[in-house]
Amino acid sequence: MKYKRMPIEVESPEEMGYDTIQFNLAESSVRDIYFRDLKINLDDVFICYGEHRGKKDLREEIIRDEKNLSEGDVLVCPSAATALFIVSTIMLNKDDHLIVLRPNYATNIETPKAIGCDISYIDLSFENEFQFDIQQIKDAIQPQTKLISITSPHNPTGIIFKDELIKEIISIAEEKNIFVLVDETYRYLNFQTELIPYYASFSDHVISVCSLSKAFGVPGIRVGWLICKHRKLQIDLLAAKEQIIITNSVIDEEIALHILKNAQQFLSPSHQHIQQNFSVLKNWMENEQKYFEWIEPKAGVVCFPRIKKQFAIDTAKFYAVLYEKYKTLVGAGHWFEQDDRYMRIGFGYPNEEELQQGLRNLANCIKESIT
Ligand SMILES: Cc1ncc(COP(=O)(O)O)c(C=O)c1O
Repeated sequence: MKYKRMPIEVESPEEMGYDTIQFNLAESSVRDIYFRDLKINLDDVFICYGEHRGKKDLREEIIRDEKNLSEGDVLVCPSAATALFIVSTIMLNKDDHLIVLRPNYATNIETPKAIGCDISYIDLSFENEFQFDIQQIKDAIQPQTKLISITSPHNPTGIIFKDELIKEIISIAEEKNIFVLVDETYRYLNFQTELIPYYASFSDHVISVCSLSKAFGVPGIRVGWLICKHRKLQIDLLAAKEQIIITNSVIDEEIALHILKNAQQFLSPSHQHIQQNFSVLKNWMENEQKYFEWIEPKAGVVCFPRIKKQFAIDTAKFYAVLYEKYKTLVGAGHWFEQDDRYMRIGFGYPNEEELQQGLRNLANCIKESIT
């Protein structure tokens, strides 16, 4: 495999230096928390190798509200990113074919690229409100297709794909013996909708991926998971995990268990905060519609607006001034292989004042950058 650093990682806030950014609108998560906020005592955690599939109590907690899943269907991984890597490397070889949405979280595209498999992209367009239809999937299927890769709620648009559409994809996949990867990393950020069951609960041809990073503000503990009811595939996935890392950090798992046991305590204030910031963002979009247009997000904490095309703008200069002069960071379009007139704005991470000022900075910077 041939690896290449992805712009979203090279230019991430942690790589740029958090202390160089005052208005961080580049994150796709809620605000990170401190260890002390967890109110957890880890004195009695035995620092042994943990269960290879992940601590049983944690796996049970992950599927607590699910009717059609058991703890045996869960493989805890050190992050959703690792789970996605494991899925790609298990499912795809050089001669295989993948169908994947674009734009997307970069790893969902870059790992298959590194494997060298053949890829058909389902391009989501602003004009089509970032939606796609079943015919596009049907048309893309080939005899060598092994995997259809969907992200919902979607990054970077905040769109949720219709439940019927994903279920139709699953039916087709079952019929053709193809697997469906549903990256559900943003599922707990459902601040406007009900929490739905994991798609893996509907079929043994689905692998759902999720983590604690986005909704609980703990990306630093690196705990995610994949869920799959297919017994043979589960063994292959476990074999991959064992070769990479054997087991997760038992400390991280203990923290993850504590968080999920008290999930509502963490989620309620976060959802309230997101609602509040979302209304700030909506107002701003309305006031700045001369320059910006957007498709309103439905879940998650990101949206993917664009600068209207009648404005000539040097985007490289715009992002440089935004960062250097205004100390404001957003996710530029090229993080997602898109034109830099698009940008991902994260509205869950900043506090309300930071969001207000960051958005003001964005508007001022646009006005300054129009050529
Ligand atoms: C869709 C999606 N999947 C997975 C990840 C990786 O999350 P984690 O921190 O759990 O590795 C991200 C992070 O941005 C993401 O946006």
